[in-house]
This record gives sequence, C-alpha cells and structure tokens, in this order.
Amino acid sequence: MKGVILAGGTGSRLFPLTKITNKHLLPVFDKPMIYYPLECLIKAGILDILIVTGGRHAGDFLKLLGNGKEFGLKHINYTYQEGEGGIAEALSLAEYFAAGEKICVVLGDNLVEKNIRKAAREFDAQPTGAKILLKKVPDPERFGVPVFDGDRIVKIEEKPKHPKSPYAVTGIYFYDPQVFEIIKTLKPSERGELEITDVNNWYIKRGEMTWSELDGWWTDAGTFESLLKASNLVARTGANNS
Ligand code: G1P
Repeated sequence: MKGVILAGGTGSRLFPLTKITNKHLLPVFDKPMIYYPLECLIKAGILDILIVTGGRHAGDFLKLLGNGKEFGLKHINYTYQEGEGGIAEALSLAEYFAAGEKICVVLGDNLVEKNIRKAAREFDAQPTGAKILLKKVPDPERFGVPVFDGDRIVKIEEKPKHPKSPYAVTGIYFYDPQVFEIIKTLKPSERGELEITDVNNWYIKRGEMTWSELDGWWTDAGTFESLLKASNLVARTGANNS
C-alpha cells in the first residue's frame, strides 16, 4: 500500500499565521505539522509516500523534508495542486503515483495518538472498497459525520447542523484504485470543492465501505483552537505511539 499526504489549501482559518507559510509547516508542539502525518504512515509500515501541496510556499516542503532521510526514507514524492479544488481534487493528483495500488490518504493537519498499523493491515486484507476511521468528538458538526443503521454506516453528512451521531470521520482514509474513477464523476459542492465525503458516500452506497474506531486521541489542527489543542496533546503523550 502507498501513502498520500494532502497538504495544500490556503489555511484561511489560520490567517494571519498562514500569510507567509503553508498551514502544514506551522509548529505543533516541537515539530512542523507535516511531520505527524508523515510519521503516522511510516510507523504503519507505509514507506512509499506522495505529498500533495500547493500555494506560494510549496517549495518549503522540499527544504524541510528533502528525501526524507531524517525519517529513514530514501525518497519522498511531491506533486503540486494548482488552485483550491478541495480534498478530492488534491487526491486526484495521486492517480499516477498510486499506479493501480491501494492507498492510505492522510490529511496533513490530522494528528493521532496511536499507530494506525492495525487498520492498515485490515485494509490490506480487504479485497476491494474503502475504509474510514471514526472518532467520538464533542463537536461533530465541524466534520464529516456518519449516519448509522445499527452497526452499518448508511451515509456521511458533511458538517451537518444537527449531527445524527457523535462521531467524526477522521482525515485518514483507505481506498482501492477505483477512487480515481469516482473522483472523475464528482461535481463541486456548495463551497465549490470536490468533497471527500462524496467519494466516501459512493463506496457506502455500493456496500464497499468498512470502518473502525481510532484508539487514543485524534485531532485536526486547522483552527486556532484545534492547533493549540494538538500542541497540548502532543506535549502530554507524543503522537503515533505504538
Ligand atoms: C475535512 C473533511 C471532513 C473531515 C475532516 C477531518 O474537513 O471534509 O469530512 O471530517 O476533514 O479533519 P475540512 O477540514 O476540510 O473542513
């Protein structure tokens, strides 16, 4: 399985911090944000990694990470997203990199306490389809939220005013190679983006989506509150622990 980190976007929710740098290069406790999704994949045994970035500061990723020597890697792949087409559009740029293999996609501003190796192994054993990781949160309305019928997810609602469950769909996704054909069929949402939630709903409709609940804490770091929370959580326990 290959890994894809999505680290584009303008980071407008973190303005003016993001006026002169990319959101994913901002510090979370003692490391730049991008280190956490990178270590998340590496510790799960996923070593062939593509970073999708964009904007005016894309070159700084190369300066920071190089070929990933510091992380024990021999090489890191990079690609550039022009414009602001959303998560699914950014992911479409990984088609040639994936080259028919399964992928694990991590949003560059998502951090986890525990190693995701178990979920990666489960997805390796899953013949086709996709897998998402859920976490119970106090503010599901900020995220994609699953709607359940018993244990089965019947759909995901993106940032619903009235969430139908207390779970967030975290920004760690596993996909089979169909994902790139699905993205080609998507239409932009009201916010003008190709939504990852539409991709996930495609798999759900066809009964090809599995899910599990993340162990330990999970947070995004894309707002002032969650950035501060992420730093405090990392300071307390570290991240990507086995
Ligand atoms: C995105 C997804 C959302 C998901 C979240 C996880 O939201 O659209 O479904 O729950 O990432 O961090 P965004 O941060 O782009 O608003």
